[in-house]
Amino acid sequence: MTGTIRASGAKNAALPALAASLLASEPVELTRVPAVRDIRTMRHLLDHLGVRSEERGEALVLHPDGEPADGEAPYELVKTMRASVLSLGPLLARRGHARVSLPGGCSIGVRPIDQHLAGLAALGADVRLEGGYVEATGRLVGGRFRFEMPTVTGTENVLMAAVLADGVSVLENCAREPEVADLARLLVRMGARIEGVGGETLTVEGVSELGGARHEIIPDRIEGGTYLVGAALTGGDVILEGAEPADLAPLLEKLADAGARVEPGERRVRVRAGGGLISQDVETSPHPGFPTDLQAQFMALMTQARGVATLSETVFENRFQHVPELVRLGAAIEVKGHVAQVHGPTPLSGSPVMATDLRASACLVLAALAAEGESVVHRIYHLDRGYEDMEGKLQHLGASVERVSGPEPG
Ligand code: UD1
Repeated sequence: MTGTIRASGAKNAALPALAASLLASEPVELTRVPAVRDIRTMRHLLDHLGVRSEERGEALVLHPDGEPADGEAPYELVKTMRASVLSLGPLLARRGHARVSLPGGCSIGVRPIDQHLAGLAALGADVRLEGGYVEATGRLVGGRFRFEMPTVTGTENVLMAAVLADGVSVLENCAREPEVADLARLLVRMGARIEGVGGETLTVEGVSELGGARHEIIPDRIEGGTYLVGAALTGGDVILEGAEPADLAPLLEKLADAGARVEPGERRVRVRAGGGLISQDVETSPHPGFPTDLQAQFMALMTQARGVATLSETVFENRFQHVPELVRLGAAIEVKGHVAQVHGPTPLSGSPVMATDLRASACLVLAALAAEGESVVHRIYHLDRGYEDMEGKLQHLGASVERVSGPEPG
């Protein structure tokens, strides 16, 4: 893979930004919203909840003035995208009532939302579980809440509730992912009062109303990181434009240690393959640790590195579903609990493989590009949830890749 591409806007920053429009009394204009299926799903949900959205040039404009269909986030929408749960905090804060389907399990683990609910309860909400739905009601008042673990969407949900609560809220042990900070910056533009943005304690002074705002979504460090891993894996040379190197630091360090030549610059990063890849151990952890969303892609890289790489997944309990598929391509990987050991390098050869979740799909595409011969990756609708025009970007980088069936509707 050789050439220059531009990072798309971050899906995981755009989703809460869209949800934040539920809090606004005037239009919210977002730029750099990626054209991916999760965003379309969120727009459907918002439409259902009374927020109309339209594309205007480069921007997505959200109009929070419509009549809600029935004011609840139904199972049919929530089951296809866990992030629908991000409607809970804003609906409750703005309307005093929210009814949102429980997201349930998903293929990478159980992923409960107990911390979202406990945080809202700490702000005075009456939270009940009934018939598979969360029902939350009440007038919110400022409060103190400490998350048991840093949760990304949990922090976002409770933050979006706190901005309209009566009084001061102190949220501790918040997730420090750049996407959480991006949401906080948007909320501040809308008129919220938040201190500690980017840190683990957020202090929020509630306001009675939030207005509209214009906001550009941050670059997608996971999407961009995927192509940078691809550069190192395929002996290539990729320049990623419109990126935020600081947000990519945990990956860039590992790529450099593995032998790739890494050159961070102003809003760009260049990664070139070095002499040969050396195995690196990785343990995923909340930001600023190594992101779980890049673990699968890094594993694909490690199949071509010399030595034994130990990859520990500490964030989600079932996030090695790409392992049997990588083994089909020729990788030598053993899994014990939450630890995978990759013995490399082993030659990879093309074969049919099956994608199981969003990031696992990306890992398989990268591994297939490094493999000798042709591979067919099935179930790429997972990819379409979160990668904007992946085949276009890969083709631009010289990869031989084509989509042989249409995108899933939705
Ligand atoms: C978000 C990202 C996802 C990423 C993940 C971790 C979005 C839309 N998705 O997911 O791509 O992989 O962060 O970086 O931004 N937990 C609980 N109780 C809760 C909430 C979380 O036990 O109430 C646990 C989870 O099971 C998991 C850990 O906390 O083990 C972190 O999960 P969390 O940060 O909440 O992930 P998401 O916000 O769902």
